[in-house]
Amino acid sequence: MLDDQLKRPLRDLRISVTDRCNFRCQYCMPKEIFGPDYPFLSKKHLLTFEEIERLTRIFVNLGVQKVRITGGEPLLRRDIHKLVQMLHGIEGLHDIAISTNGVLLPKYADSLKKAGLHRVSVSLDSLDNQRFGQINGQGAKVNSVLAGIEAAEKAGLKVKINMVVQKGINEQDIVPMAKYFKETSHILRFIEYMDVGNVNGWNKSQVISKKEILDRLNKEFPLEPVAPNYPGEVASRFMYKGTTKEIGIISSVTDTFCSTCTRARLSAEGRLFTCLFATKGTDLRKPLRLGATDSEIQKVVKNVWERRTDRYSEERQKLLKNVPKDGRKKVEMSYIGG
Ligand code: GTP
Ligand code: 5AD
Ligand code: SF4
Ligand code: SF4
Repeated sequence: MLDDQLKRPLRDLRISVTDRCNFRCQYCMPKEIFGPDYPFLSKKHLLTFEEIERLTRIFVNLGVQKVRITGGEPLLRRDIHKLVQMLHGIEGLHDIAISTNGVLLPKYADSLKKAGLHRVSVSLDSLDNQRFGQINGQGAKVNSVLAGIEAAEKAGLKVKINMVVQKGINEQDIVPMAKYFKETSHILRFIEYMDVGNVNGWNKSQVISKKEILDRLNKEFPLEPVAPNYPGEVASRFMYKGTTKEIGIISSVTDTFCSTCTRARLSAEGRLFTCLFATKGTDLRKPLRLGATDSEIQKVVKNVWERRTDRYSEERQKLLKNVPKDGRKKVEMSYIGG
């Protein structure tokens, strides 16, 4: 088994297929920075589906069992269902999911399901049109996301909903979101606002902690904790007392989960990152395009994983005090995926 320096195996691969998005969420791609002149990756720099499939096979050989397709907004990548179909053919890969903002699901849910997709995670931060429009930076309506969720459900995909909670921005939506999704078959997860990237001007005072979220929920509906589905699950799970209806909280700030982190990330241009908060990655596209063999590329990945020591969330306090003076920057979430 392939373990890193902290004895964590390589189990998940999160693949970003584009750095573009049709939303401009302030905490991820603020309009002022991601404007019309922003230098997004050009087509020739993106890994082709064939290249992604080949790399995924190599990762599966090294222990990966789950793949998540992310972005930016992955449904903006043309013919994305074809990639799903190619990944579906890889033996040993048990789970293929997509993280999306949902608005293109009415168009693509059926073809994605037919191609072999198992699950989608849809981001939705508010049920109030005014607030949601502000948060997504484009005035997109709540109904356009709800329609996507419905389409995914109809197509037979399992659906989870992710809500990033920010103090003073959408904290009033915690309870209404819980109420709304309690009556559906989807699992809602609250995400503590994180300091990913460099552009969102994150400050700890903008975080609503897992404990606060739980306190607010418990006042309305009593919850009880339940065990993780698998070792290293990102969300802590709870059930509404006396039911089998589940919700989750992803607490990368106040209750970290680095010690069980088995996730590798591949950017749309083929760089391998071993942490969401990494400052640099390893170029896999170059050897791919220079004609390296599978076993040569496998060796590169193996080396990177074996040397891995990342545990950013556990070290956040210390690291934020010592921001690198050499100008190194964390990668952006829109570049590396959620
Ligand atoms: P499943 O358990 O397979 O459903 O997936 P997941 O919980 O990993 O799902 P998802 O990709 O929807 O993750 C939800 C959010 O959790 C992401 O968008 C990130 O905000 C956060 N997250 C996921 N993985 C990590 C991680 O490794 N580190 C940190 N800090 N946050 C993460
Ligand atoms: N903090 C927490 N979650 C974030 N996401 C994007 N940026 C942040 C952040 N700064 C979430 C999105 C989506 C997923 C891909 O990551 O809302 O649910
Ligand atoms: Fe797009 Fe998701 Fe980033 Fe919002 S959080 S800008 S939907 S990639
Ligand atoms: Fe994994 Fe880095 Fe997230 Fe910790 S902060 S859980 S090491 S991706």
